[in-house]
Amino acid sequence: MHHRWRTIAARSLGLGILIGLATSRTAAQEAAPSVEEHEKAMKEIDYVVDDMEFHVDARYWADLGSDTDALRLRFVRVQAFWEAREAGEALGFLDRVLTANSALSRASMESDKDAAGRAIGELRAACKACHSEYREKTDDGYRIRPGG
Ligand code: HEC
Repeated sequence: MHHRWRTIAARSLGLGILIGLATSRTAAQEAAPSVEEHEKAMKEIDYVVDDMEFHVDARYWADLGSDTDALRLRFVRVQAFWEAREAGEALGFLDRVLTANSALSRASMESDKDAAGRAIGELRAACKACHSEYREKTDDGYRIRPGG
């Protein structure tokens, strides 16, 4: 019962996200996120992924579902950033991230801990792949690698 309600809620949320996606695509063409917004998104993404790991361990499936929605929205902004730079390889890593996030969302609806664990592993691998191409360490944090 509980699960069924959540599925219905997740479906209407899914629709909301589709509409959101369509709007943010238009918004992306008007104003791509700034370098500062990109960094802020990365920090938020980092918190969300930590939360995801906790929620998978604790089998908090509804919370995990909310995490995947939060992650998707942030990565759509990150996507707009790299689209504006026409950085094809970065966009490939983002497709990987979004695919892993969808698998994680499915796992949350099916309460499937093994599938969730695999999806988080794939998500982390995609973060790492992009970081090794595009991220550079500085004295006080990270920046986009010059030319990236
Ligand atoms: C499309 C490439 C790309 C993907 C995918 C990506 N990142 Fe990043 N990330 C970057 C770049 C470039 C930087 C450095 C510039 C910045 O901070 O904006 C960065 C910075 C960061 C930082 C440091 C922020 C700071 O300055 O303190 C964290 C934390 C982070 N990413 C986490 C993640 C996590 C977690 C994922 C996967 C869920 C991820 N990133 C996926 C490109 C990416």
